Amino acid sequence: MDKVIFRIKKGTPEKWEYKEYEIPVENGTTILDALYYIRDNIDRTLSFRASCRMEVCGSCAIMVNNFPRTACSTQIKTIGKKVITLEPLAGYKWIRDLVVDFDEFFKKHESVKPYLVRKDNPEGQLLQSPEQLAKYKQFTLCIKCGACLAACPVAVSDPFYLGPAALAAAYRFNADSRDQGKNLRLAVVSDAEGCWRCHFSSECSEACPKDIDPAGAIQKLKVQAAGYELKRFFHLGVKD
Ligand code: SF4
Ligand code: SF4
Ligand code: FES
Repeated sequence: MDKVIFRIKKGTPEKWEYKEYEIPVENGTTILDALYYIRDNIDRTLSFRASCRMEVCGSCAIMVNNFPRTACSTQIKTIGKKVITLEPLAGYKWIRDLVVDFDEFFKKHESVKPYLVRKDNPEGQLLQSPEQLAKYKQFTLCIKCGACLAACPVAVSDPFYLGPAALAAAYRFNADSRDQGKNLRLAVVSDAEGCWRCHFSSECSEACPKDIDPAGAIQKLKVQAAGYELKRFFHLGVKD
């Protein structure tokens, strides 16, 4: 059985250090398996967050050799290194060890109204064609892991930037034919800390474990936001 050394940032913002742990690794062993191994066999104090172990709950994202990944779906042997450094997600308030505070992330998400907005009260089902569904379907796969924000050079340096996950969520609902809240969202994302802060470097899309393309969504959102701003500028009656 192979061995890999994990260097883990341990402690709190006030006092921390990198601690090393040697872990036995087989084909298929994931980073999350290694974290449980350490906690169960070497260091009971190691703090990390996880739940589903199958890339569904979104709670286990951490920095792995300086790149954000979901620990449960990252197999150690695919990294191809004998020494692997684990750190808390970049761009978030650090709490301790590998645990960060997601409050701001979810506040940003909530600010774009990530749900269907209706002005009427329709009875029965709101039907969609496969083509209408295809416009936003990939974005429904988001597990809110926050890896995209940790990969974004703008988000890690500007805590007020809405970030790729929230902006992709805004696009997801704006692209949904059943929704009537597009202008409410565009008023939020057209802000200086919204879609215009994105410079389309695409690190967010590269980091996404669900193969979602938040960078692409943000560029489409910019087109919508430009139309929204033009209508407002020329007083063409933008309705919420
Ligand atoms: S494309 Fe935009 S949101 Fe994505 S990493 Fe680059 S700057 Fe950040
Ligand atoms: S877009 Fe991808 S990386 Fe970002 S929160 Fe959703 S699943 Fe995670
Ligand atoms: S433990 Fe749920 S996504 Fe990794």
